[in-house]
Amino acid sequence: MKSVTVSSPGKLMLMGEHAVVYGKPCLSTTIDQRLYATVEATDSNFLEIDAPEVKLEGYKKEIKELTKGKIPKGAEYIEYSIKNLYEKYNLSSGLKIQTKSDFSSEVGFGSSSASSVCAVYGASKIFDLDLSNKDVFDVAYKAVIDIKGVGSGYDIASTIYGGVIYYVTPGKVIRNIQIPELDIIVGYAGYKTVTADVVNMVKALEEKYKFAVSNAYDQMEKIVEEGTKALENSDLETFGELMNINQGYLDAILVNDRVLSDMIYAAREAGAYGAKISGSGLGDCMIALAPKDKKKAVIDAINSTKGKYIELKTNVEGVRVETKK
Ligand code: MEV
Repeated sequence: MKSVTVSSPGKLMLMGEHAVVYGKPCLSTTIDQRLYATVEATDSNFLEIDAPEVKLEGYKKEIKELTKGKIPKGAEYIEYSIKNLYEKYNLSSGLKIQTKSDFSSEVGFGSSSASSVCAVYGASKIFDLDLSNKDVFDVAYKAVIDIKGVGSGYDIASTIYGGVIYYVTPGKVIRNIQIPELDIIVGYAGYKTVTADVVNMVKALEEKYKFAVSNAYDQMEKIVEEGTKALENSDLETFGELMNINQGYLDAILVNDRVLSDMIYAAREAGAYGAKISGSGLGDCMIALAPKDKKKAVIDAINSTKGKYIELKTNVEGVRVETKK
């Protein structure tokens, strides 16, 4: 039977988080941790999934039962994505998906989005569907909304398109920004709050203080527009300053906390051009951008706080075929 192995990368938010959920643009990049999926046609009526990294082995569901009944967490994104693909493109035959991940298990770099995208992209190759990036996006993003109810979809777009993207939800604009290199320094708080919970908390804050929160979103939009120009001109100093201003608005919507803040100030004091939260906040990650000769000092400064530096490369290729049989 036909088989294909595909892979797609994790992501990191650069600017515009939270505001992007409400129609404002954001900038994000891919990272060099990838999810691999081998997708095989079978002559059964089942979707079979093996995903050992999320402790899922030998999972099986009849195609016509997809998304019905209880679904283990590790199968959710793949099952919903395949169901959406099958419905949209009138497919019904059996499929086996085996994943392998080099994502770190503790940090939220987007392994669920990557698994959705690998499932859709891999299956599209098995069934010879000639899908564009946007077609893959539409199917995988629908799965995110079906499961989580909220989410801008920037993570799905990042893992498909690769590199650095300028993104407007729900895939209204997805544009690659050409930039030769982007050496982002990442610090991890050591814990994380569920993204949907932080998004809902900010939503409640906006309902109470609309004048302040929607103003913050308007300002973030302008920061992302200026940030895009700065990146396109390889003006990292300006981009760093804009990161700091963006951080001011993330503070204003109350998603900063002590551990993130300590890492951010430590990075700035050690000579970073800029430092800010990356993603939903209240734990998880911060990012810093620094001149090459200050990189080590910034890393040491982050490690001197309660947070820790995570080594990774950004701006890598999006979803791709690895091998085909
Ligand atoms: C989380 O990584 C980024 C948020 O903007 C949520 C989203 O875009 O779905 C907070």
